Amino acid sequence: MSTLYFWIYSLSDFAQLVKQQADIVKIIGEFVRLRKAGAQNYTGLCPFHKEKTPSFNVHATRQFFHCFGCGAGGDVFTFVQKIENLSFPEAVRYVAQKCGIPLPKREFSSEEEAAEGRLRAKLFELHELACAWFEEQLRSPEGALAREYLAGRGLKPEEISAFRIGYAPDSFHALRERLQQVADIDTLRISGLFSFKEQEDGTPGPLYARFRKRVTFPIANESGRIIAFTARALEAGEKAGPKYINSSETPLYSKGNVLFNLDKAKQPIRELNFAVLVEGQMDCISAYLAGVRNVIATSGTAFTEAQARLLSRHTKQVIVNFDPDTAGANAAEKSIALLTEEGFNVRVVTLEGGLDPDRYIRQHGAQAYITALRAAKRHQDHLIERARQLHPPNTANAKIEALNFLLPHIRRVPNRIARDEFAADAAQKLGIDSALVREELKQAAAKRRDSLSNNMPQLSEAEKMMLRALASAPADEVFQAAAAGLDANPAHFVGLTASYILTQLRHRQMPDAIHALEDTRDRGLLAQALMDELTPLDSEHVAAALETLRRRYFERRQRELRAAIAEAERRGDTTAVLQLTTEKISVDRALRE
Ligand code: UTP
Ligand code: MN
Repeated sequence: MSTLYFWIYSLSDFAQLVKQQADIVKIIGEFVRLRKAGAQNYTGLCPFHKEKTPSFNVHATRQFFHCFGCGAGGDVFTFVQKIENLSFPEAVRYVAQKCGIPLPKREFSSEEEAAEGRLRAKLFELHELACAWFEEQLRSPEGALAREYLAGRGLKPEEISAFRIGYAPDSFHALRERLQQVADIDTLRISGLFSFKEQEDGTPGPLYARFRKRVTFPIANESGRIIAFTARALEAGEKAGPKYINSSETPLYSKGNVLFNLDKAKQPIRELNFAVLVEGQMDCISAYLAGVRNVIATSGTAFTEAQARLLSRHTKQVIVNFDPDTAGANAAEKSIALLTEEGFNVRVVTLEGGLDPDRYIRQHGAQAYITALRAAKRHQDHLIERARQLHPPNTANAKIEALNFLLPHIRRVPNRIARDEFAADAAQKLGIDSALVREELKQAAAKRRDSLSNNMPQLSEAEKMMLRALASAPADEVFQAAAAGLDANPAHFVGLTASYILTQLRHRQMPDAIHALEDTRDRGLLAQALMDELTPLDSEHVAAALETLRRRYFERRQRELRAAIAEAERRGDTTAVLQLTTEKISVDRALRE
């Protein structure tokens, strides 16, 4: 392999090599549920904007993606950069690793963007180190109390290692001393692992450990790299502080953008095509260890839109199982609202005895929990039941209140049939005239419209062929045939939707077609042409397209000449009539060929 790197002297060379070997469908497929939509292309829900019908496309052989909804597009690196929030060199490295391509010894350097990449890499490194250190502390004599605590919660040593649970000892400086060996103070300050007080002169004071005398749980991003921690106090009570403390927000971590355990659960979620959503780390860990491998958690908060988007790449079906306490019930309600609005199919479990999943599993066992999940109620039924609990519909007034509780939930259901069914159910179970419910809904329905309108101009088949040919590598036979056609008769291409794009592709300096276009709309049009690809293109297709465009040109010219001749005759301009007629005769002849 080392000779290979002899000629790899730049990042872009290496990137080209990686790109040739990477399977874009496989890499994007780890983040987006893709469905085969044509011979070469796949579609799915766009991870970069909110949508209910798929407009996100990936082209397997041309190795690019494009979303017709929001215009996002590019190659495998663009995708990884956007989705994992990475710099270009980091994205190249990520894809290289995925494909098992060894990285060149020489590091990419001296690029502006590399600075940010280095910071992130450092933060990842710090988190990895901190995690190993916490694990080590848990095994040390000092960790005895924590080990006891975890054993008391029913966790076996191998389960503790599987989730890399650790212990932050009762020390203000020990972690800092460990991490200072590899990073400077400024980097440690933004790592989210330390606290500090602002001093009188406004500068930050010395750093001290944010987590002390706490059990630590690493929080990983979707690819399983640690980006933050949550830490639970060993003791209850005022002195111990809040039960859980999270890392502060950092360039790697934002609470509302992460789903705990998604790295482990994403594959099972895809296989089962549903996720179980719980509220806390311990609930999540217990459920996972009970055999519910598709479980993920928020950090005791209602679901956010970012989290819904994250999850929707893997499934659109969720069983929500929050704490039945008031805070939990409210969070559940908000989460259900958001999830249904985002087009998820939501079911709800409320465990008996007011137990959270962790305690339920410990008291009743894994099997009972799985049975309870199987009996999850449709969210409609759950909400109607809750409305009836909150406002027992014995009086006319209570019925109205119950209905008012339900109406916003009903309105949120994006699908009309499902919405009407929900409304009819609610009316029936509350003992209200269903016509009344329907009337209430109608007012809101008028406002509802799907914003995604596709007003992109359409391309003719011949234009698509030309685009496909010119999007190929300039050395290809099809490229050369198309370029020759374009050069020989530029007039044939004037006025086409794609004419400007064709010229740009023809004269581009870079091998990559989609990157040669600057305008999002142009990229969209090119993507439209490439996604439609059914069979590989050969020079006969190109010849046929050139012929079609030639005929179209002459037909257009014929119409123009007819109008011009009529006009010249009206003016009595015999010279012009003669000239135009001569041209028309040659056009007519060209069209008979
Ligand atoms: P709960 O108070 O229901 O805790 O908070 P829990 O999950 O049952 O925790 P255990 O079983 O006592 O250990 C639910 C979630 O809310 C977040 C945590 O993510 C927790 O798992 N939380 C709770 C905080 O972030 N801070 C807190 O002080 C309390
Ligand atoms: Mn609990």
